[in-house]
Amino acid sequence: MRRGPADRWGAPAQLLHWTIVVLIVAMAWLGLTMVDMPNTPAKVERYALHKSLGLLVLALVAVRLLWRVYAGAPEPLPAPRWQRWLAQGTHFGLYLLMLAMPLSGWIANAYSGFPLRWFGLFRMPQPIAADEALYDLTRDVHEWLFWLLLVLALAHAFAAVWHHLFLGDATLSRMLPRGWLKPPAPTQEEIR
Ligand code: HEM
Ligand code: HEM
Repeated sequence: MRRGPADRWGAPAQLLHWTIVVLIVAMAWLGLTMVDMPNTPAKVERYALHKSLGLLVLALVAVRLLWRVYAGAPEPLPAPRWQRWLAQGTHFGLYLLMLAMPLSGWIANAYSGFPLRWFGLFRMPQPIAADEALYDLTRDVHEWLFWLLLVLALAHAFAAVWHHLFLGDATLSRMLPRGWLKPPAPTQEEIR
């Protein structure tokens, strides 16, 4: 059942989509720059920020999924069946990776044996014992999942911009507040 508008993504879905995009970009930057820092207190702080922000992403993705199930999606735009399948497959993969990224980081951190306090406020549960070999493995998984997410997200963003610029449809404008992007002109068919 759909509870949001039929012709575009509703405000909560848009807000969650773009907030999570910004946070993932920040997370990628933090992750990639923190690993090569010299061993100073600043490095420990960066790691702590990366972990706390990453757990916030996990919570927001959970809210987003619940909202998606509750509010549904707008009516799909006309497109060949293979394109619709490709888009749905990509979206499914992105949802999986948005969950797997923070979960793999959290598991890796638990194997490292480092205590984890969420923004310094409270201690997160770490119900697994420290294990160096498993830490190395899960850390590698965390990194590889990130490269996969990067490829999929870039293809996804490229497709959205392509739809707007070259196919002239509302794919991108309906994921933005009304009036932010000029919607495509209606076709003669739609005017009639
Ligand atoms: C959306 C969520 C996340 C993204 C996009 C992300 C991304 C990254 C990236 C790009 C790296 C650098 C990989 C490398 O070059 O080795 C990294 C490292 C790391 N991340 Fe995350 N991360 C996320 C969530 C988390 C969470 C929730 C935790 C822990 C609670 C975490 C723990 C770590 C740790 C411990 C490392 C460092 C591994 C090392 O020292 O080699 N990450 N992350
Ligand atoms: C970290 C990067 C990103 C992730 C993880 C992501 C994830 C997603 C997911 C999972 C959906 C499907 C929504 C659903 O069916 O519930 C979606 C939709 C959408 N995203 Fe992204 N996105 C990212 C970046 C971007 C960027 C940079 C753009 C634009 C340049 C963009 C434009 C769109 C649009 C237009 C839709 C609606 C597609 C439709 O109506 O079929 N996304 N995004």
